[in-house]
Amino acid sequence: MKTMILYASKYGFTADCVAELKKNLNGETRLVNINSDKIPALDDYDTVLIGGSIYIGQIDKKIKKYCLSHLDELKNKTLGFFISCGSAETIDTYFKDSFPDILLEKALTLDNFGGEMRPDKMKFFHKFVSNMVEKSAQKDNTSPMKPLPESILRMANTINTHS
Ligand SMILES: Cc1cc2nc3c(=O)[nH]c(=O)nc-3n(C[C@H](O)[C@H](O)[C@H](O)COP(=O)(O)O)c2cc1C
Repeated sequence: MKTMILYASKYGFTADCVAELKKNLNGETRLVNINSDKIPALDDYDTVLIGGSIYIGQIDKKIKKYCLSHLDELKNKTLGFFISCGSAETIDTYFKDSFPDILLEKALTLDNFGGEMRPDKMKFFHKFVSNMVEKSAQKDNTSPMKPLPESILRMANTINTHS
């Protein structure tokens, strides 16, 4: 099995998640950061896993664009999609807004890797917004943001079992 994991991560949480995913996958796996790496041709890969973190309701535009511009090739792969974010309550909407319906229907696995704020690395504006998000979550009593390592293992197991 040859797998490509294509991802976007601003402050490193998603990057850590995909490194863990790679560790748990059988076969050869290539990690590709859409913002800093050259994206290899899809021909070489039978499995493609794509995802990223959510900022103000949106995944990185490059991830969205890549899926749309490679729709036909991606349709013929074993597919998985993942998101990292703070709000488990809105995860279905994030998936629908981030990836084309036709690929979501074809996907073997979709999962929420949870989320983590890394304020020490953030630019001023993001630090400001993250404080507001945390305060409003406390006020509304919504479930706090946390990493979900079990979902990474679940995705790896699903892919390993399928191949
Ligand atoms: C400025 C800012 C905006 C965010 N907006 C959202 C949001 O709209 N919905 C959500 O669920 N999480 C939101 N988050 C949480 C991030 O998705 C979460 O921290 C994620 O783990 C970041 O991953 P990364 O370090 O790989 O970019 C936001 C975080 C920041 C700092």
